[in-house]
Amino acid sequence: MHRLIKEKLPRHLAIIMDGNGRWAERRSLDRIAGHQQGAESVRDIVRASRRIGIPYLTLFAFSSENWNRPPGEVEALMLLLKNYLSSELPEMLDNGIRLLAIGDLNRLPKDVLSTLNETIKQTSQATAMTLSLALSYGGRDDILQAIRRIMINCREGTLAPEEVDEKLFSKYLWTASLPDPDLLIRTSGEMRISNFFLWQLAYTEIYVTPTLWPDFNREELIQALLSYQERERRFGLTSEQIKTGDR
Ligand code: IPE
Ligand code: IPE
Ligand code: MG
Repeated sequence: MHRLIKEKLPRHLAIIMDGNGRWAERRSLDRIAGHQQGAESVRDIVRASRRIGIPYLTLFAFSSENWNRPPGEVEALMLLLKNYLSSELPEMLDNGIRLLAIGDLNRLPKDVLSTLNETIKQTSQATAMTLSLALSYGGRDDILQAIRRIMINCREGTLAPEEVDEKLFSKYLWTASLPDPDLLIRTSGEMRISNFFLWQLAYTEIYVTPTLWPDFNREELIQALLSYQERERRFGLTSEQIKTGDR
């Protein structure tokens, strides 16, 4: 069917789901219609990722900057999120999908936050795939909240500055329980990170497609994974070191 090599799948795939607005504009529809169609792509891609066997999938759904969009659009996105969570719960449970959320979650409307927490609780025992939703997430916010908590622990005397290394710092990030992403996909062609994972993307492979998020589907996902599987990840070493395993 497809030529994916099971052993070379990304352990963690992260996606910047962009282009809902442009998808709608091209059809002379309201931006919100684009977000609705985008939610359908979320359903497809979560399902496909689970079938393919990707252990960790993170979707950038709402950035810290997206709060500054017109209030009606923010409201519609929050409603879509809430509906998505309630409609997908049975499928998450059936397919062993554990839900997590990362970001400044306290900014979410109360009803959305409680539905989110309930879904997280109900799926907490699932083990086949971890689906993380980055909501009200900013890469800079993430780093700053980690620094604040590290400083508090230092002041309390439970942590010494010398102990702060990459491994420890990672444990203070909202992504503490996730491995660093192996592959980042961005839809709709923009060549930027838009304040998504800043620390976590240090050695992530990047795949940008011009396809708008509502048009992104399983076939496109497989294309991205095939491209990833052809890459040589060197992590600063030479190609020869990688090939001979000599390091
Ligand atoms: C992505 O689509 C969804 C969110 C950022 C919430 P956009 O709404 O950013 O769509 P474009 O970029 O305007 O086309
Ligand atoms: C990035 O998309 C955020 C999400 C996909 C949630 P944006 O549409 O907000 O990014 P910019 O503004 O084009 O950089
Ligand atoms: Mg956008």
